[in-house]
Amino acid sequence: MHDNRNPEVAWTYHNATKHSYTSIRSNPHFMDWSNQPLPFKIYPTLELLRLPGEVRQTGVAALSAIAESVLADTNASPDLEAIAQLLYLSAGITRKRSYSGGEIYFRAAACTGALYEVELYLVCGGIANLEAGVYHFAPAEFGLRRLRAGDYRRVLLEAAGDEPAIAHAPLSIICTCTYWRNAWKYQARTYRHFGWDNGTLLANLLAVATALGLPARVVCGFVDASVNRLLDVDPQREVAFSLVALGHVAALPPPAPAEISPLGLETVPLSQREEDYPLMREMHAASSLDSAAEVEAWRGHTPMIDFPPPTEPIVQLKPLSDAEMPRDPIEQVIQRRGSTRKFARSPITLPQLSTIIDRATRGVPADFLDPPGAQLNDLYLIVHAVEGLPPGAYVFHRSRGLLECLKQGNFRADAGYLGLEQELPAAAAVNIFFLADLRPILQRFGNRGYRAVQLEAGILGGKLYLAAYAQRLGATGLTFFDDDVTRFFSRHAEGKSAIFLVAVGYSAKHKPT
Ligand SMILES: Cc1cc2nc3c(=O)[nH]c(=O)nc-3n(C[C@H](O)[C@H](O)[C@H](O)COP(=O)(O)O)c2cc1C
Repeated sequence: MHDNRNPEVAWTYHNATKHSYTSIRSNPHFMDWSNQPLPFKIYPTLELLRLPGEVRQTGVAALSAIAESVLADTNASPDLEAIAQLLYLSAGITRKRSYSGGEIYFRAAACTGALYEVELYLVCGGIANLEAGVYHFAPAEFGLRRLRAGDYRRVLLEAAGDEPAIAHAPLSIICTCTYWRNAWKYQARTYRHFGWDNGTLLANLLAVATALGLPARVVCGFVDASVNRLLDVDPQREVAFSLVALGHVAALPPPAPAEISPLGLETVPLSQREEDYPLMREMHAASSLDSAAEVEAWRGHTPMIDFPPPTEPIVQLKPLSDAEMPRDPIEQVIQRRGSTRKFARSPITLPQLSTIIDRATRGVPADFLDPPGAQLNDLYLIVHAVEGLPPGAYVFHRSRGLLECLKQGNFRADAGYLGLEQELPAAAAVNIFFLADLRPILQRFGNRGYRAVQLEAGILGGKLYLAAYAQRLGATGLTFFDDDVTRFFSRHAEGKSAIFLVAVGYSAKHKPT
């Protein structure tokens, strides 16, 4: 039995995986290119079912798709084309680049180190042109491989403690994360990356679901062992991290096939050898849920964290009007997205920034966010170059739609330092940090709250990316010196933990004329 309720393990993991000026310099780790892991999971013995290759255009504006969701009980079921679109635009290969060591296959969503440790599996009843089954998505071949034939949705439903969205979903996607694929570069900090990289992928998936008229809900509460067993993954290497219920049908799934037998399927080894980082497996085990009753008690009742009224100068957000709002469709924006490698130091405008923040923070449908609209992460900004906003450090008051200025000044050098001494955060127009008070979160959700807070940050960060690219701006996720970030935004941020960072601005490649 695991003890999710004792959050000491999450604290230990969090503290042990902080970056600092010293930790970066004293870490002897290097990337062993001769042992680089494969970026794909390959089942060599299973037949491939090719997915339709054409990307249908919904025409729905990205800035609407990321901000809205379809009502939970709207009857809608994806067909195979819609499934292809959901998979391609969340985890598909959108670009290839050759380098001296081979080719990098870039995907629809940003991912730390382009290591792509998130795998997608489908659990569905019979769908137009797709038989009921459990499938693995193979992005390289753009197809599905069937791991189990038959309707296994009931197994997922029981694992998810009768979660209503899973109960009525014709299709659920299971996102798993593979330790070694990301730990090859990031070592034990990889467990944080699971949340980030799964989250950016989900930002795309949720937006595409909305554009397709499908209700979608992220489910973080489930009996880990049951879901891992359904996929027959080796939980020492690969673990289910989140589920997404997609669509809604009135009928509940039929009883599950009698037994979930091991599949014993061959997969291609990722590397010649794998290194183990026990700390993150301990973090995962300690945040595991063991029974449906535990899952039911886990979800919802999000701590509503008190945010004191502003005491410093404030600036109201001024999002673009509907008439001014770029209407670039979600499909185009996702295909256009790619992390900015060099920012032009040109300013963006307050309406552009306001639109990004406003559209990205309108709520995520998730089992750990109840009442709807609840949010675990707070946004703190370092503004370098935003017309209408003096340079400085700000905190976003979401309920009031305004920014409170914590200190004015040119903080380009500070931002460069905080973002792990990189040029990108110094050159961007604005850096958006996510900080969270882990104390009430871990108190309510136990160690699994750590998964939720990282995942939420990844989803919001993914939405920031899309909101920037929808306005032809650039963005990149970044990593950071944990405690220095908190110190920079204190006293306001005292006691909070740094969770995520996205830099936004014009790309040097597409500088405004
Ligand atoms: C959470 C997160 C953190 C990242 N951190 C950095 C970083 O510190 N430095 C950097 O240059 N790129 C960073 N990136 C960008 C990734 O390297 C990039 O997403 C990956 O190479 C895939 O490329 P693409 O986003 O252009 O598709 C980060 C991305 C994410 C999602």
